[in-house]
Amino acid sequence: MNNIGFRRTHMCAELNEANAGELVNLSGWVQRTRNLGSIIFVWLRDRTGLVQLVFDEKDCDKETFALGESLRGEYVLSVQGKVSLRDEAAVNEKLKTGRIEVFVRKAILLNKAETPPIYIDDDHPDESETVRMKYRYLDIRRPSVQRTLRMRHKILQTLRNYMDGQEFVEVETPILTKSTPEGARDFLVPSRLHHGTFYALPQSPQIYKQLLMLAGLDKYYQVARCFRDEDGRADRQPEFTQFDMEMSFIDPEDIQTVVEGAYAHVFKELMGVELSLPLRRITWRDSMARYGSDKPDTRFGMEIQDVSEVVAGCGFRVFEEALAAGNTICAICAGGAGHLSRKELDALGEFVKTYHVKGLAWAVVNEDGTLRSSFAKAMQGDSMQRLLETLSAKPGDAVFVIADKKYVALTAMGQLRLRLGKQLNLIDSKRYDLLWVTEFPLLEWSDEENRFLAMHHPFTNVMEEDIPLMDTDPGAVRAKAYDLVMNGVEMGSGSIRIHQSDVQEKMFKLLGFTKEQAWDQFGFLLGAFQYGTPPHGGFAFGIDRMVMILSGAESLRDVLAFPKIQNGACLMMETPSAVQPEQLEQLKIRCVE
Ligand code: AMO
Repeated sequence: MNNIGFRRTHMCAELNEANAGELVNLSGWVQRTRNLGSIIFVWLRDRTGLVQLVFDEKDCDKETFALGESLRGEYVLSVQGKVSLRDEAAVNEKLKTGRIEVFVRKAILLNKAETPPIYIDDDHPDESETVRMKYRYLDIRRPSVQRTLRMRHKILQTLRNYMDGQEFVEVETPILTKSTPEGARDFLVPSRLHHGTFYALPQSPQIYKQLLMLAGLDKYYQVARCFRDEDGRADRQPEFTQFDMEMSFIDPEDIQTVVEGAYAHVFKELMGVELSLPLRRITWRDSMARYGSDKPDTRFGMEIQDVSEVVAGCGFRVFEEALAAGNTICAICAGGAGHLSRKELDALGEFVKTYHVKGLAWAVVNEDGTLRSSFAKAMQGDSMQRLLETLSAKPGDAVFVIADKKYVALTAMGQLRLRLGKQLNLIDSKRYDLLWVTEFPLLEWSDEENRFLAMHHPFTNVMEEDIPLMDTDPGAVRAKAYDLVMNGVEMGSGSIRIHQSDVQEKMFKLLGFTKEQAWDQFGFLLGAFQYGTPPHGGFAFGIDRMVMILSGAESLRDVLAFPKIQNGACLMMETPSAVQPEQLEQLKIRCVE
């Protein structure tokens, strides 16, 4: 016995009937106490779970019993006691250790605790998230959070082992770095030694990993912290972790093989699920056409169909005008959605408008074959019949139609599909559906900036057959870029990089950079690339998102030990926060309101 109490011989929840009769030492926190006068039941908790302690007047000395009486929730306790089988009537099936209890002989109080501001259990889902985040160190005591953090550790461990087996080398790259062209806002760190200059925290190790390929490392990976100053969302944190990799002398398939192998390994080790490899692939164009999204949730059907040709000449003004303007008319058939009320259908109309389309045309096929519809009256001849036949709409189904610019219409329809999938309970939440989305466009047009932007980043390579299109139809150029998608979430993304200087120059030109501007911004990379760059490419996947899906968590906040809340703040550390005037003085920084 010393200041750690009785040296532990067992962990609480690892005790079972086989230990009956043994004298054991346990340490942990008091979960709850039940005082019946001459006998006190105490649930003791450690990282493995709970066990019931019994302080029995008959069994322990006065001092120990008095200590038992003084215990409160979260007191830190060390005990020595004898494991005993419970009577059949006293068995608690809800507790893993519910068939035994430990009769305390001696006890040492290692620490007292204030009454915690939150419940330390998983039975209070309504607990305020603000309070939980402020007292995150108490929140982490909850079994579900402990489980998630352990799962996160296991996932990383499994991935590291896998990559090591594939001869990848983990290299740590700097956190104080230079702004890289990743698209989000940088977090900046002022330099004390070079007044007026700033480091940027890495949005990803993108440039470094490419330089490591140039440096001949061949196969790199890293569990990398990334920082992006963007608005919070359930699947976005300002500070997150990527599993980042890069390889030389490879095709996209080589990278995809490693990545899906790593995923399959994790699924097998952690979930006992065999993924069937290779994962299927869908091109970006197909994914947009069928699911209205570049991260399709493929756990259910309800695929989008282009009905432009079917409704041509139908007489309905909205469709006719859309077609005349070169727009697209797309539709879905929602099986079993015929019960939706007028109010619910109107709500769907309002919903799609938030995705910038003008409206939603709908038709319900009643059980008797008649129609309820927002537009059927305007459809001439057999055009409505043809539309319903094309969509294979049966009695009890509803069809929805959107006419707009192609990708605006498809995106809105994709969102409607997802909403209906949830509303109609079509999504099997136990299923994991992974697939690759390939052949992303190289560029996307920005109306705001009136120029093309790189869809991935400016070093993303072009599919060979599309290189000539860079001069004639840049918007149609496909990149050697691919995303891994699971259950409608972008799990990771990567590309083959440009290593040919002529293609790189063309790319910068398309992005509206002069040679000087390109060198000014990316000189450190372009300079390096003059010294024998191997063909290379890579991938990065979001560890947080992976843990979120595998652990069934609702938000990234649940899978990080110390997350930020929606507005980027950490309530526990009360940061961001003001700093001492002297610190600003050293940096020669003055805050203006
Ligand atoms: P990208 O920006 O697509 O690619 O990021 C890769 C993956 O990281 C995860 N991710 C995030 N997770 C949590 N919070 C965020 N704010 C966040 N942002 C991204 C996603 C995403 O798919 N350097 C390239 C990769 C490459 O080309 O090799 C990159 O960073 O799961």
